[in-house]
Amino acid sequence: MDYPSVRLDFERLGEEEGRARVRALVASLRRRRSVRDFAPDPVPLDLVDAAIEAAATAPSGANRQPWRFVVVRDAALRRRIPDAAEAEERDFYERRATPEWLADLAPLGTDWRKPFLETAPFLIVVFAVDHEPERLADGTTRSRKNYYVRESVGIAVGMLLTALHTAGLATLTHTPSPMRFLAEILGRPRHERPYVLIPVGYPAPGACVPDVRRRALDEVRVFA
Ligand SMILES: Cc1cc2nc3c(=O)[nH]c(=O)nc-3n(C[C@H](O)[C@H](O)[C@H](O)COP(=O)(O)O)c2cc1C
Repeated sequence: MDYPSVRLDFERLGEEEGRARVRALVASLRRRRSVRDFAPDPVPLDLVDAAIEAAATAPSGANRQPWRFVVVRDAALRRRIPDAAEAEERDFYERRATPEWLADLAPLGTDWRKPFLETAPFLIVVFAVDHEPERLADGTTRSRKNYYVRESVGIAVGMLLTALHTAGLATLTHTPSPMRFLAEILGRPRHERPYVLIPVGYPAPGACVPDVRRRALDEVRVFA
């Protein structure tokens, strides 16, 4: 089939170079941790923006790029988020969470209080777009479907976390449940579904993190 194409821009590395680069990436990613205790120190906006630019290079179903990254900067909007999130989280921890879920969360030491939502200098709210309005030539609008939205946005968020970490910033992957209040506060259209809330900043001096471990490679990787 005829379709517009361009020459692939690909750098073929020597094996040694490839090995060194991936080992360096592993060493860097091993030091990424979810941080829940942030310093109030400001973060340059361009660092966050470049990380979002990296995330937006992610592959996506039919290249529909079904994501929006909302960087919350407005102080008034910003102030509304902690209260709304804590109300949902309180309900979750005190009523909706199953005993099994609470037991799994216990080693992380988390509860309904979310002070990091006030201290982290930036909040990025990632939205997933299942379908979006598209204006047609005749002036009407149709709803255009996106594909593999969850998978695509998940990949983009992974790249975002990696890019923010590479930029020397700390993040938390936060999923207040339910998250619809974020769309309301941020005035996002109905077709954008809140996917994850990512506080970004520098860790507070002396910040601690839960002592969690990764499964050994042999447990998670299978050769078939
Ligand atoms: C999809 C997802 C949702 C998460 N939701 C929350 C959350 O709502 N609150 C929180 O404190 N941590 C949350 N986490 C962070 C995990 O607890 C954390 O990634 C895990 O314990 C491993 O710790 P680490 O990220 O420091 O390596 C979430 C992580 C993922 C991937």
